[in-house]
Parts: sequence; C-alpha cells; structure tokens
Amino acid sequence: MASEIRTIGVLTSGGDAPGMNAAIRAVVRKAMAQGVSVKGIKKGYQGLLNEEIMDLERYHVSDTIQRGGTILGTARCSEFKTEEGQLKGVEICKEHGIDGLVVIGGDGSYRGAQALSRHGINTIGIPGTIDLDIACTDYTIGFDTAVNTAMQAIDKVRDTSSSHERCSIIEVMGRNAGYIALWCGIANGAEDILLPEKYDYNEQKIINNIINNRKRGKTHHIIINAEGIGHSTSMARRIEAATGIETRATILGYMQRGGSPTCKDRYYASIMGAYAADIICSGKTNRVVGIRHGECVDFDIEEALNMTKEIPAYDYEVARILS
Ligand code: ADP
Ligand code: F6P
Repeated sequence: MASEIRTIGVLTSGGDAPGMNAAIRAVVRKAMAQGVSVKGIKKGYQGLLNEEIMDLERYHVSDTIQRGGTILGTARCSEFKTEEGQLKGVEICKEHGIDGLVVIGGDGSYRGAQALSRHGINTIGIPGTIDLDIACTDYTIGFDTAVNTAMQAIDKVRDTSSSHERCSIIEVMGRNAGYIALWCGIANGAEDILLPEKYDYNEQKIINNIINNRKRGKTHHIIINAEGIGHSTSMARRIEAATGIETRATILGYMQRGGSPTCKDRYYASIMGAYAADIICSGKTNRVVGIRHGECVDFDIEEALNMTKEIPAYDYEVARILS
C-alpha cells in the first residue's frame, strides 16, 4: 500500500444501474483489506457538495450484492459542472480527509472525476450504466441485467402480439446508443431493429417489411425501437394507417434500470470494484477502469473520453438476415 492514501471515498453518479452495489461492496472490502478507510458519499456529486458523507464499515455493504439500485443513492448535479462547484468539492474532500475518490457512473461522471483529479484529489472511474456506451470498455455495469429484463418483457409482448396478429413497436432505453436495442433485437428475434447509429428514417421500408411478412404468414411483427429514435407512439399510428394492421407501442422505461443484478453484472462489478480499490490505494489517479477481453484494464480519463465505439457491423447485418 502507498503510505499517502489513508482514506478513500466512493460515490455513484448519473443513472443508477443494477450491479452498482456489488461494485461499492468490492471497493469497500478490497480497500479495507489493505488498511485503507472508506467513506460513502451519498447522491453523487450533489451529496459531496452537501457533505452527505458517512464512514463505511464491512457490515454496511452486507446483504447488498443481490440488490438493484445503489445503496448510496445517485443524482445529476449541474453545480458540479462549474469550476466553483468542483473547487468546493475538493475542499470538502480535504476536510473529510478523503485522499482519493472512486466514481461509479458514465462519461459525464468521469468529467467530474477528472476535474477533482486536476485539483489534487486522486480519482478512479468505474463504468456504471445500462447503456453500454463507454468506449474504453467491452462491458458496463448494469447492461446485462437491463438487456435480460428487456428481453423477458419483449417475449411477453410478443405472445399477445401474436395472439392478436398485431404489430408491436417496443421502445428500449439507451440514451443515444443502440446497444440495448441491438442485443434485444437479436435475442428476441425482432423483425426490425431501429438504432440511432443506423436508422435512415425511411418508414416505408418498415411498412413494406410488415406487409411482406404478413403475406408470408407471420402473425406478429416486432420492431425494437431505441430511445435515441423515440416517437414510438406516433410511429405506431402511422404504421397502422399505412398497413391496416393494428399496431401498438410499448415503452419499457425505467423497469430496465431496476431489479436484482445478473451473475455477470455482480461478477464484473465486483472485479472492477476491487481493481479500482487496488489502483487508487497504490496512488494512481485520473484513470477509468474497464473490461477488455475479459480482463481488467485502466486508461487515462482523457484518453478514455476520446475513444469512440461503433455498433458492430457484422452483428447488425446478422440481425437483419436472421429476422
Ligand atoms: P453519466 O455519468 O451516466 O454520463 P451524466 O452525464 O448525467 O451521467 O453525469 C453525471 C454527473 O456527472 C452530472 O450530473 C454532473 O454532476 C457530473 N458531470 C457531468 N458532466 C460534467 C462535467 N463536464 N464536468 C464536471 N462534472 C460533470
Ligand atoms: O443512462 C441510463 C439511462 O437510463 C438512459 O438509458 C436514459 O436515457 C437515461 O438514463 C434516463 O435518465 P433519467 O433517469 O435522468 O430520466
């Protein structure tokens, strides 16, 4: 252990994601195993500015690995985007003896971490978002639970859609990224998958596809629409008018962010939490942890934020051919 790191803090920021508790638990226990104390900061950067800070002991994270949401709470905090807010955060960390901070969240949260690091507070980011939209990592905490939740919900919509011989548009989350839509599209065998990264806004193609499938005897037509495209309800009205086939929109919404995390989310959240604790206790700063080819890696925050990631072209083509 590097001698100068005696106390670290941990917070969750941005949208919550199933598996965040497993990451918090791992940070706490791995740091404590090295003799480093841990403080929990409630409600993200907002809680830091409000000094909602508590000492965490091993027992505080007992019985949490199976729970959805985040035991620390989370928030979006616009004040922390200002230099003034960041400097206040630095002072509060110093007053509470926090030498380093582990931030579990997405790209926006890393910008906050980067600012703290610039002002002398060591920071490490862990990717926590259901959207899978962080370029430096193959995996983000919560994605696996969210896609499984969405997949099961879509199966149910498909049952009733087939019984009524309807077309269904099912909107999934993902902000501007189409990963949840792509994975569900493939796993649910959807007839059409609309991704913000690929969609050409040609509704006539979808209409033709529906009519052709109906002629071939398909009783349902499932369209997975990504949140980044949105407008599922008006799209359903237009498709029904053009095809004469009853069309319904279902927006899955926040159910995708809740629930007990899957094994994969608990596993990788635990491994990344432990890794983040190790590197922050060793004195590293301004890094983001990720999983690449099944193993933990870490990158400079600036480098990580400049990386880009694309929908895998082969997977998207396969989805089209299989449907
Ligand atoms: P995510 O971390 O999931 O991308 P947000 O973009 O909402 O979610 O960011 C979470 C929080 O991180 C924000 O509410 C804000 O407190 C902080 N944050 C976002 N962008 C910045 C920035 N440019 N500088 C400092 N803090 C930021
Ligand atoms: O980033 C996770 C996410 O659920 C996105 O998929 C969605 O666009 C956003 O958060 C919703 O955020 P909020 O909780 O602020 O409505």
